[in-house]
Amino acid sequence: KKAKDQLVIDAGQKHFGATVCKSCGMIYTASNPEDEMQHVQHHHRFLEGIKYVGWKKERVVAEFWDGKIVLVLPRDPSFAIKKVEDVQELVDNELGFQQVVPKCPNKIKTFLFISDEKRVVGCLIAEPIKQAFRVLSEPTGLQSPNSKECPRAWQCSDVPEPAVCGISRIWVFRLKRRKRIARRLVDTLRNCFMFGCFLSTDEIAFSDPTPDGKLFATKYCNT
Ligand code: ACO
Ligand code: ZN
Repeated sequence: KKAKDQLVIDAGQKHFGATVCKSCGMIYTASNPEDEMQHVQHHHRFLEGIKYVGWKKERVVAEFWDGKIVLVLPRDPSFAIKKVEDVQELVDNELGFQQVVPKCPNKIKTFLFISDEKRVVGCLIAEPIKQAFRVLSEPTGLQSPNSKECPRAWQCSDVPEPAVCGISRIWVFRLKRRKRIARRLVDTLRNCFMFGCFLSTDEIAFSDPTPDGKLFATKYCNT
């Protein structure tokens, strides 16, 4: 009882308690105007997707029959950065992640998959890393380096292994899944992350994968 009273005071609001939206899945506090605003915004983006108008000097790094991949770097114009932030917010809300502050914000590379309907339907956020820990609860899991040397049944390791590129987020708009958009994003990342070389799957690591993320990563790295 006492702890509950304390919580009310700490939160500084009369009504509290989480509401889960049945259509967009976001958890928010209905009595908190700021939360409600965020929900309305997320709800709309979740159902409609994020529009993409494009800009003159956009960096198109791959083109396909159903869309293209644009690379956004930290020093790009503010409208490009704003677009990336909008997408990241949608993704984080959907995954229920807290916003993660990157270690080296100016080394982040963001790849956006733009559909022919001019919507952002996929996003991959990558950063340089020096090491990864092999997390293998099943014979699937995090893809980290040296998989040739480690048997597949290897359980979680506390030995860091060298890696080059960490995928901190990968996401595809829910209506566009299973159309190889994630696969094409990772292919493009491997091609563009370091100038002049194509990264092997051993050199990339998926951070903190969700069940969807694990299924995708396992499949991707074995084919
Ligand atoms: N279940 C089983 N297999 C899957 C799944 C799944 N949900 N998703 C992908 N795969 C496998 C399949 O074998 C697929 O090939 P197939 O369709 O020919 O069978 C192969 O991976 C390639 O899949 P893509 O079509 O390229 O993947 P997609 O574009 O659908 O995107 C993603 C996959 C990004 C995981 C998507 O499901 C998603 O956005 N999920 C919600 C967000 C999320 O969980 N992201 C991962 C977070 S972890 C992280 O960010 C590091
Ligand atoms: Zn909603």
